[in-house]
Amino acid sequence: MASPDASAVAAVTSVAALFTAERPNAPLTATPDDFIDAMRLLPAGVTIVTAGSRGRRCGFTATAVCSVAAEPPHLLVCANRAMQTHELIEATGHFAVNLLHAGDAALADRFGGRTGIEGEERFFGRRWTTFVSGAPVLTDACAVFDCVLVERLAVATHDVMVGRVLEVRRSGDQTALVYVDRDYGRVMPPGDRSG
Ligand SMILES: Cc1cc2nc3c(=O)[nH]c(=O)nc-3n(C[C@H](O)[C@H](O)[C@H](O)COP(=O)(O)O)c2cc1C
Repeated sequence: MASPDASAVAAVTSVAALFTAERPNAPLTATPDDFIDAMRLLPAGVTIVTAGSRGRRCGFTATAVCSVAAEPPHLLVCANRAMQTHELIEATGHFAVNLLHAGDAALADRFGGRTGIEGEERFFGRRWTTFVSGAPVLTDACAVFDCVLVERLAVATHDVMVGRVLEVRRSGDQTALVYVDRDYGRVMPPGDRSG
């Protein structure tokens, strides 16, 4: 894995230091609760991020996923460093992002740790395969992005993990699952918005 661009990290750090130095008494009023409460208004597509190696597989539900660049294709995932999947991504240097379709809210809860089901058991009852990276790929996901880890930036409890996309596939059901205001929904394609 390439190390994070040191000049970019230094630039971010120096901007933060400058802000604090110029405003030593500036109150930090944003609490975690305020932040979570406001961020829940931001609708997001729901994915399962997976990693795997020699018989072991892990995955977690993630909404903090974003396109970074198209030429060549890169995306980012924000992953809590305490998670098993984070450890396996670091160990293998690969991960896959599976974009769920609108009918998969129960699967999102399972991989989101809301049902008490952990590890390998999260994969039961569904068809999974692998592409070039070896990370588990859900065969009927809306879209799948198979990635090699190329950058990692630690921010508080999470790592921003940047993946170079090796392979992309789309499947039949193209209506993605959306998460907003602590609930699941869907965005209707423009052609379906009648009345
Ligand atoms: C809708 C939803 C979105 C989530 N998004 C993220 C995310 O973007 N990044 C993250 O680190 N955890 C996210 N989580 C929490 C993880 O999915 C959860 O902590 C994970 O299942 C823990 O896995 P583990 O038991 O293997 O440690 C999300 C959970 C839910 C239900």
